Amino acid sequence: MSFKTRILSEFSTDLRFLKQWADNPLTTGAIAASGVALSRAMAEEVPSDQSGPVLELGPGTGSVTSALLASGVARSDLSVIEYSVDFSQHLRKTFPGLTVYTGDAYALEEIFKEQPDLKFRAIVSSLPLLTRPLKDRTALVESALEHLRPGAPFIQFSYGPQAPVKARRGIYSASPSKWIIRNVPPARVWTYRSDPKMG
Ligand SMILES: C[S@@+](CC[C@H](N)C(=O)[O-])C[C@H]1O[C@@H](n2cnc3c(N)ncnc32)[C@H](O)[C@@H]1O
Repeated sequence: MSFKTRILSEFSTDLRFLKQWADNPLTTGAIAASGVALSRAMAEEVPSDQSGPVLELGPGTGSVTSALLASGVARSDLSVIEYSVDFSQHLRKTFPGLTVYTGDAYALEEIFKEQPDLKFRAIVSSLPLLTRPLKDRTALVESALEHLRPGAPFIQFSYGPQAPVKARRGIYSASPSKWIIRNVPPARVWTYRSDPKMG
């Protein structure tokens, strides 16, 4: 791809994101896609010493998706759930072979009801949690942990100063990364894991 074609393609992806934000600010949650540093920091939390399915929630135009693939997650192992029909179409075109569910990531039970034994190696979420009430956020984190292998991470970025969902002692932990300041706005990656005693 020539330099000019790449710049035009990136510009059109940025415009797509901005338009989605203008139409649906609360579900889009940001005016621009996550930067490379934040996307890489999310991907680095995925265990690389094992193979198996990885799930991404709220992939948008695919910045974290690209980082996950670049970090070694096989395309055939990666599924994404995206609410926006426009973003879903864009993802299918940009990443042929990726499993794209167009739907509500807060309804994991419903989406995976035909695959009760499916347990992910990691779930990586860019959902704008802070635009939802605490009870919805907590339900999402707890449902995601149910869909993970024992000890596997639920990875979520947040622009807020506090954990988007607090840890529950003896049930699950929440560990923040350093602030990633090379992102607009700066963000941290929160990694949730079930307490081993709960397994
Ligand atoms: C902050 S953007 C993140 C996009 C991209 N992953 C990134 O990091 O740049 C949030 C994304 O989550 C999607 N989203 C919001 N609510 C959703 C839901 N309930 N289910 C699935 N996707 C959702 C939005 O459409 C948007 O693509």
